[in-house]
This record gives sequence, C-alpha cells and structure tokens, in this order.
Amino acid sequence: MTALTLSTSAPAALRSDAIVVAVAKGAKGRPVVVAGAEAVDKAYDGKLAAVLETLGASGGEGEVTKLPAPSGFKSPVVLAVGLGDAPEKGETFDGETLRRAAGSAARALAGAESAGFALPLDSAEYAAAIAEGALLGAYSFTTYRAGAAQKAAADQEKKDKSAPLGEVVLLGGKPKDKAYKAATERATALVGEVHRARDLVNIPSNDLFPKSFADIALAVGKEHGLKVEVLDEQDLREGGYGGLLGVGQGSANPPRLVRLVHSHPKAKKTLALVGKGITYDSGGITLKPAGHNETMKCDMSGAAAVFAAVVTAAKLGLEVNVTGWLALAENMPSGSATRPGDVLRMYSGKTVEVLNTDAEGRLVLADALTRASEEKPDAIVDVATLTGAMMLALGNRTFGIMANDDAFRTSIHEVAEEVGEQSWPMPMPRELLKAMDSTVADISNMGERMGSGLVAGLFLQEFVGEDITWAHLDIAGPAFHEGAPYGYTHKGGTGSSVRTLVRLAERIAAGELV
Ligand code: BES
Ligand code: MN
Ligand code: ZN
Repeated sequence: MTALTLSTSAPAALRSDAIVVAVAKGAKGRPVVVAGAEAVDKAYDGKLAAVLETLGASGGEGEVTKLPAPSGFKSPVVLAVGLGDAPEKGETFDGETLRRAAGSAARALAGAESAGFALPLDSAEYAAAIAEGALLGAYSFTTYRAGAAQKAAADQEKKDKSAPLGEVVLLGGKPKDKAYKAATERATALVGEVHRARDLVNIPSNDLFPKSFADIALAVGKEHGLKVEVLDEQDLREGGYGGLLGVGQGSANPPRLVRLVHSHPKAKKTLALVGKGITYDSGGITLKPAGHNETMKCDMSGAAAVFAAVVTAAKLGLEVNVTGWLALAENMPSGSATRPGDVLRMYSGKTVEVLNTDAEGRLVLADALTRASEEKPDAIVDVATLTGAMMLALGNRTFGIMANDDAFRTSIHEVAEEVGEQSWPMPMPRELLKAMDSTVADISNMGERMGSGLVAGLFLQEFVGEDITWAHLDIAGPAFHEGAPYGYTHKGGTGSSVRTLVRLAERIAAGELV
C-alpha cells in the first residue's frame, strides 16, 4: 500500500515527482491559492494564481492543472487541484472537500513514486481528511491485467502508469504532534481496509464465491487476532438456516455463514454488523435480463464492508466488541434452485414463501439477523446492496438508512456525514407490511412495487430480535461506481459504508452512542 508520512520539509526541498497545492474558485470564477501553498506561491513571485488562470484553471472541484515547478525546487512539477467555490467569509473548507481534492490529485499522479502535499494542514482533522483522500485516491485493481504487469516487468525503464501513487508526504504537518500522528496512523489502517473491501468487490465471481470469501476471512482474521468461525453447508443444514440454504441451493458453490469477533477486555458495548454477501446475483429462476446482471459481482459489497470494518476495529484496538456476520451465498438458477412459490423455513422458525428468487438478499440477511440477535448485542447494523428501488430514490452516491429507532437512524446519518459518506434517512411505513402476506406461509419475500426499498427493510425487521436497536443501510447505489472516476472514487467497488461503520464503532467505544 501507498506509504504516508508527515514532513516538516519546505516544498522546495522535497525530492519527489510533484508538489500538490490547492486552489479554490474565487470571485468572477478566478482561481485563488489556498493555505498550505504560501511557500510555493512565493517561489512563483506570488503569481501562482495568475499563472494558473493563464493556463485556463478556475479552481473548480476536481480540476487538475500541472505546471513546471519554480527553479530551485527538487521536484519537477507543481500540481494544482481545484476545491470548488471558496468558502464564505468566516467559513472554512469541510473535510470532505479536502478529502476529495487530495483524492483527485492522487489519481492524477498514478504511476508516480511520491508526491508532497502542500495543502491546509493547520488541524489534525484536516490532516486526517487529506491523508484519507490521498490514500483512497491511490488505488488500482490490476490483478486481472496480465498485459500491464508483463510490460512493466519487460521494460524496467517505463513506469507502470496504472500503479497507484507510491508515497504521500504531507508537508506542513506536525510529525511530533500526537494528534497528527494518530490521525495518519488511523488513516493508514482505515484506508487499507477500504481497499480490501474494494478489492473483494472487484474480484470476479469465478474467483470470489462463498467458500473462497470465507477462506480469506479465516486467513485475514487470524492475521489480525480476530476470532473467526465458518458455518459450511453441512453446519447450515444442521442449524436450520433455511434462508441461506434456499438462496444458495441453485449454485455449485454452496453458502457459508461467517462470524468474526473483535473483542476488547475493557469494552462496555457490543456492536453486531451483518453484511449481505451474495457473491453473484443472477436473480435465480426469476432470472435477471441482460443489462441487469453485468455488475452483480458487487452484490457482496455489504459483507465486504462489514469484514473491513471489523478488521479495522481490531487494527485500531477499539474499546468495543464488534461482531461481524457475513451471509455468503451465490444466487444461481439450476435444477436444484429454489422455485418461485417454494416455502423456506428460516433460522428463526418463520416460514417464507419465495415469490421472487431475485429478492434473495433479505433471505440470507434474515437468517444472519436472527442469529446475530441471539447474542443480544447493544445494536445491530446490517449493510446490503438490497434494492434497485433505493437507487431510484437516492441515486448512485447516497445510501438509505432505515431503523427501528429514530434516534439511532439520525445518529448513523450524522456519523456518515462526519466521515464524508452521503446517506439519507428513510421511513418504515407499517402499511407496506400487508402486501407481504402469503397465502401459504408466515410471510412472502415480495410486497408492493411502490416503495419496494422500504418493503425490503420491513421484511428484515421481522427477523431482528425484540428490543434490539437495529439499522439497515441499503448501499445498492454507492457500492459500485460505473461512471467517470471523481475525487477519491474509482470505477468499480468503492468501499461504501466502511468509514461510517468504523466511526460508528469508535463513537460507541467512546460512550457517545447506543
Ligand atoms: N442485488 C439486487 C439489488 C441491486 C440492484 C443492487 C442493482 C445493486 C444494483 C437485489 O437482490 C435485487 O435483485 N432486488 C430486487 C428486489 C425485487 C425483486 C423485490 C430489485 O431491487 O429489483
Ligand atoms: Mn436479487
Ligand atoms: Zn441481490
């Protein structure tokens, strides 16, 4: 992974591939140089903004302009990244603006060995945001590109342009200050796990299936001192996990339920995280048409986020117990697959008539939610790419939050806001339950089409233990990015919700929540 260091070096003295500065969009759409770049601006005789304007820069969000470094600089290039509109008088930039700008700069520097970031580092909070953004931007997934690796190996002279920026040097940070050190260490631990979640999502389903995912959880869990238990199909049968088995029975790759535990001797609270881990969602017998199945390797993004969050909790030694549940199955059509109209007996004992085999996420989550509830955690949060309806409602960048407790839903929304993840609270209208009535079973897995994202949440609630605080994050929109890269967001798996889950665990550890 990309190295991260704090340095007191002057920008001119740092030997690197580029010095990054920030510019904002000021009056009349003109670029204005932002704090952190004073020494660089001085080296251009105070004319950096004017030079940038000549080059056509405006300081717009994500805009990247490269120019030759002033004479005397040990780095050849200055890279100016746009922050968007300059803040009003008395206001400051928010963390996410800096996070995204650092990410845009890091992406533009792919293939470079190192860069110095001369951005506003006047608080440890800003340092954290810039560190996170730069590291998140320094990502690439090239496991399946034989060509690039071979070329790079054959020709040592040519730099591998697809390799992420190798080193991020924060200039003007305070290397000896405890808060700065803690911020950069946290950023390194956290982003390493966001990258793990992204990788897991990006690995194609022919390599990532329930057993291979569970094997990764076992190996990584061991490395980080987690307790890991895996229920295989035999265990699931003996345990009566009808939801996981029903979804997985059409596949040659049988399902798994993984339990990961981070515990701390001084912990006062336990947080349970439950992730939807459909390693491929074909829809099953209710097969998805072409155009709807090409990205369905991403349907385990919830499980990847939960896994990454538990490992981060362990890396940071958080004073809270965090149990992660990965509900892993592959949803395929075959002669052994669940048919529309079949009835499953779930782990809770409830029966479900499966009217649509493409509404499979709620079935695997139901079993995991019931199982997680048995341990009476102080709160449960499930994360899932659950419904296309949530994407229709909130778009591609915002996840929906539903909960059985309004205060908890609000808290999660605030935590997400704090870490720079877009989310929005959604309601749970009781009247939508009625349409899930089944003529043969306790409940069916289909309800009204209108509000079907909310219907899915109402279904899940039926499987959450009584009196347990619970929230459901539907990350179908932001989990997988298909548009042009922006900020620190690349194409493919995004690691959506990992930062929110980790901050939530930290807030609970600090006694601020639950
Ligand atoms: N995995 C999908 C939801 C999804 C769609 C995630 C697009 C990411 C991108 C889920 O299993 C699904 O198929 N949901 C159905 C539910 C319906 C059959 C009630 C949907 O949203 O159409
Ligand atoms: Mn589906
Ligand atoms: Zn699905």
